[in-house]
Amino acid sequence: MIKPHGSDVLNPLFVRDEKQRNVLIKEAELLPSVMISSAAAANAVMLGSGYFNPLPGYMNLEDALQVAENMQTSGGLFWPVPILNLLDSAEGLSESGRLALRDPNVEGNPVLAIQEIDAIETMTENQKTRITEKVFGTLDPEHPGVGAFLSQGRVVVSGPIQVLNFSYFKADFGETFRTAYQIRQKIETAGWEKVVAFQTRNPMHRAHEELCKMAKEAVGADGILIHMLLGKLKAGDIPADVRDASIRKMVELYFPPNTVLITGYGFDMLYAGPREAVLHAIFRQNCGCTHLIVGRDHAGVGSYYGPFDAQKIFRDQVPPGALGIDIFEADHTAWSKKLNRVVMMNSVSDHSKEDWVFLSGTKVREMLSNGESLPEEFSRPEVAEILGQYYRSLAGA
Ligand code: ADX
Repeated sequence: MIKPHGSDVLNPLFVRDEKQRNVLIKEAELLPSVMISSAAAANAVMLGSGYFNPLPGYMNLEDALQVAENMQTSGGLFWPVPILNLLDSAEGLSESGRLALRDPNVEGNPVLAIQEIDAIETMTENQKTRITEKVFGTLDPEHPGVGAFLSQGRVVVSGPIQVLNFSYFKADFGETFRTAYQIRQKIETAGWEKVVAFQTRNPMHRAHEELCKMAKEAVGADGILIHMLLGKLKAGDIPADVRDASIRKMVELYFPPNTVLITGYGFDMLYAGPREAVLHAIFRQNCGCTHLIVGRDHAGVGSYYGPFDAQKIFRDQVPPGALGIDIFEADHTAWSKKLNRVVMMNSVSDHSKEDWVFLSGTKVREMLSNGESLPEEFSRPEVAEILGQYYRSLAGA
């Protein structure tokens, strides 16, 4: 099986031994504690799950700056996005020792992880601006990822962590939330050598279904990992339980049995386009996948990124050998009326605009909210039905 990023063996930071975990939970009651941001909590869940292997915890300021600037930590580890615990203030924190991190997303704010404080540093406004610019490619606070990043403080608390639970993800998405460690085990048990990962934060329509099938065929994969984001999204995106139900229905009806693993991970969407695509590649390698599909506007939002910038970054900015996982580059994919099937647009030369079935996200939402059915060329009817139910419930119908 493909090795994890940066180490021979995956080292998830969740404390698996129950006895040891209970000791730490008790210890946490006596430690000073802070409420962390949702982003820092999502980082803890990803670290706990092994997705962010081989990081031992939250980065310090120097690493964050180096990662933003050169996609490399000061120790030389290839990494595309700073993994931080940013607080508003350092008040009440001692410069060293252990700190209990409280979860902002679970009622009662239980302790999510214990951090060993290595350093407490304050990032300047200029440094924060620089990181934002490099990671997101824009400073526009309307960009949802930029907005979320800027709303966090500038106090950088760095150091290793021990993770005590998986926040709300296990309780809310018990069938779907899986750690990188669990996915590696699944892949091993299935005996799959080559595995294609499909990142998604949306329901899957015909184009996405075919993209997975084309990629599997093209690379000769044994299986597909459909890996959905379960954390926070921007307003208007479809909630994870609805996406999950529609994806499960699609796989049940339209994929051969035992060729797809449907799973999800606990992270808030950054919408960082190219940089997030590289992070996606790292954490799919960590869960044992050999390929990641990167298509049109991967992890993008609005028109902040060019449609294929997330492919370009792998060619232009990822040093050879930095990643073990390969990228399956997908062109814009849609239903061809001429061929009566879904194809990548660059695979045909004799089509004009009218030969394709295109529907914008806005149009899809509008149709489903009005109780209209989507064209079968665009969406499987069973998928459209589940999404329709959701939109009608929003409209109070
Ligand atoms: S993402 O933010 O998670 O990337 P989404 O779930 O919409 O958004 O996309 C999942 C993957 O499918 C990404 O790799 C994206 O580039 C790709 N993709 C989505 N729609 C298309 C399409 N019509 N043609 C080609 N690739 C697509």
